[in-house]
Amino acid sequence: MARMSDRVVIPLLDERKPARPGSIAVPVPAQGLAATGLLADALGRPLRDLRISVTDRCNFRCSYCMPKEVFDHYHQFLPQADLLSFEEITRLASIFAAHGVRKLRLTGGEPLLRRHLERLIEMLAALRTPEGEPLDLTLTTNGSLLTKKAQALKDAGLQRITVSLDGLDDAVFQRMNDVGFPVAEVLKGIETAQAVGLGPIKVNMVVKRGVNEDQILPMARYFRDNYGGSVVLRFIEYMDVGATNGWRMDEVLPSRELLELLRQDFELLQLDPSAPGETAERWGYADGRGEIGLISSVTQAFCGDCNRARLSTEGKLYTCLFAHQGHDLRALLRPAAGAAISDAQIGAALAGLWGRRDDRYSQLRAAETPSTGSDAPRRVEMHYIGG
Ligand code: GTP
Ligand code: 5AD
Ligand code: SF4
Ligand code: SF4
Repeated sequence: MARMSDRVVIPLLDERKPARPGSIAVPVPAQGLAATGLLADALGRPLRDLRISVTDRCNFRCSYCMPKEVFDHYHQFLPQADLLSFEEITRLASIFAAHGVRKLRLTGGEPLLRRHLERLIEMLAALRTPEGEPLDLTLTTNGSLLTKKAQALKDAGLQRITVSLDGLDDAVFQRMNDVGFPVAEVLKGIETAQAVGLGPIKVNMVVKRGVNEDQILPMARYFRDNYGGSVVLRFIEYMDVGATNGWRMDEVLPSRELLELLRQDFELLQLDPSAPGETAERWGYADGRGEIGLISSVTQAFCGDCNRARLSTEGKLYTCLFAHQGHDLRALLRPAAGAAISDAQIGAALAGLWGRRDDRYSQLRAAETPSTGSDAPRRVEMHYIGG
């Protein structure tokens, strides 16, 4: 009989439990850098879009993002002291703007759960580009609190909004959000956002084959009939982001198939991109009653001109949605007593890390099978760095 000491001990590790992501220390540059707004990464891609996660909490448990069995009662969200304050977020955003960022998107988790978010929006709305223009300021929400908050968001200076909605049928939608949240409340939120002038509104629908694909045509019809060109519905391929959603390729509905489905009912014409580095391919209804978008990160990667950086709730900068580690900018904002770090030094640090960026996960994944097994480094969860 084997003695205890001879036995191989296999540690019990639930692969689906989210690990606290690793962190890369950012060296403090001795010299500051004058902002030119012209940063380019190692593949020549500029920095234009900063996505800021303001909370890692959410009141939904979408199976593709925060599966209930993983993000349960025992899950530890970030403590308050770890979150960037509104002043810290605004300081970083202004440095990013000086170095080329033109669009700010607030995300989460669910950003409307962050207390006094309107105050942050006011502070960000006051920022200007070096040419004196306001930034494109927007927010992604699940819509659950939108009816209540739309007017305050608008008053604070938010320009537009993107609402996630995965179906019109309550049974299907509730299976997706997994907390029993009703569709009608999200639709009311969209109506309110439209009424207060938060526009153009985008609606993002993540499509999972066999789960909500029967909602594609009803969603297209609903937004075309009720909003025409003032709401753009975008269909998103279910991605293998994070390590907890149990992603399988057979649950992805490729955008080409989705387009064929839509074309059975509608005549659609491809439109030119409205900005370089855009996520969505645009298709317009031939009769001019609006457009839809296809976001095909799995089957047609768009890393080639990806100009997006992501700031996590606790101030780590991720240069790719699929990164394993973030660069700890918060440490630069909170240096030891008596060691202030200037905006120009933080700018230099940003230039250094953007200059080394060569991420293109989706493109590389297209060439191989993704791994979420224990041999793969743990990817960061999407609700933590924002969608
Ligand atoms: P607009 O400025 O309104 O066009 O926004 P956007 O499309 O840049 O941002 P949004 O948050 O609406 O993105 C829609 C979805 O596209 C996200 O929820 C993700 O699923 C996906 N997505 C956004 N950015 C990236 C990215 O950099 N890489 C990958 N792979 N997917 C992304
Ligand atoms: N695949 C695609 N999109 C996702 N999102 C979150 N998880 C995924 C995933 N696995 C996006 C959705 C949602 C936004 C908040 O994040 O677009 O609307
Ligand atoms: Fe929450 Fe959005 Fe993630 Fe759904 S996709 S769980 S609404 S953060
Ligand atoms: Fe950008 Fe990474 Fe997404 Fe490619 S996979 S588009 S590099 S965030």
